[in-house]
Amino acid sequence: MMASANISLQPADYVAFQSFLEQSCGIVLGAGKEYLVTSRLAKILRDNGFTSYQALIQALQSQHAHLPLRSQVIDAMTTNETFWFRDIAHFKILSEVIYPEFVNRRLKIWSAACSSGQEPYSISMSMADYKASKPSGLIEADIIATDISQTVLDEAKAGVYCGLSASRGVDHTSVAKFFDKKDSCIQIKPAIKQRVSFREMNLTQSYASLGKFDVIFCRNVLIYFSAEMKFDIVQRLADSLNPGGFLFLGSTEAPPGLKDFFEMRSVSGGIYYQKRA
Ligand SMILES: C[S@@+](CC[C@H](N)C(=O)[O-])C[C@H]1O[C@@H](n2cnc3c(N)ncnc32)[C@H](O)[C@@H]1O
Repeated sequence: MMASANISLQPADYVAFQSFLEQSCGIVLGAGKEYLVTSRLAKILRDNGFTSYQALIQALQSQHAHLPLRSQVIDAMTTNETFWFRDIAHFKILSEVIYPEFVNRRLKIWSAACSSGQEPYSISMSMADYKASKPSGLIEADIIATDISQTVLDEAKAGVYCGLSASRGVDHTSVAKFFDKKDSCIQIKPAIKQRVSFREMNLTQSYASLGKFDVIFCRNVLIYFSAEMKFDIVQRLADSLNPGGFLFLGSTEAPPGLKDFFEMRSVSGGIYYQKRA
């Protein structure tokens, strides 16, 4: 059934959808983003045979909401853009400032909102380079990478990258060092992959099951949330860090609450935050 072709999104449906999205994953859809909803949900409407947005929203809101439907909708509404070594200054800070502090120790690192894996694998690559440059110092890292979207997590776990995602942010030297060829694509080498484990996790919910970390990357995701939610997440990220632990945010992000819980530091043209004592 091609139900969605002429289905219009009524103002009341848009308001109800805004509220569903914010409650389920924190994402705030401002005014005038109706096109985003209709363009991203058209296929879901069609595939599930809904003849109105109202019917879809009612199904999403129902107590017995079909979990795969909720996941499909959240997947469709999230923005998953990412690339290798995004904000290169952060990786310089890891190797120049943070790794040296952890020689002879095992670091616990969280890549929160990891999308298709480029961020946690880039961290693992930076650890591999650091270990190779300091053969006398024992250092290792366990990297936990989480995201709300099962689709991107499946891509991340597969670790196979094709087209633009195989080249954006990595040069030939890094490709040769950290990837194997797989048909016309590239696949993360086992030595880089084995440091990273992936889990589904909604940043608006509890992080208690993850334990404490030395470093958290939470980049380019807080921008989608309300000021209250940003504050709440920043506070809970601070709670998830060991004393003196480090936080990296997207380069344009300055959520409320940062100064309450973190000291801002700047090195190599990049900014990072250290948990206040
Ligand atoms: C723009 S990507 C950023 C990826 C990576 N951190 C980077 O900077 O390249 C944002 C990611 O946040 C995830 N996301 C959105 N809302 C989330 C939530 N409530 N909990 C966890 N992840 C979420 C999306 O699925 C998406 O993969």
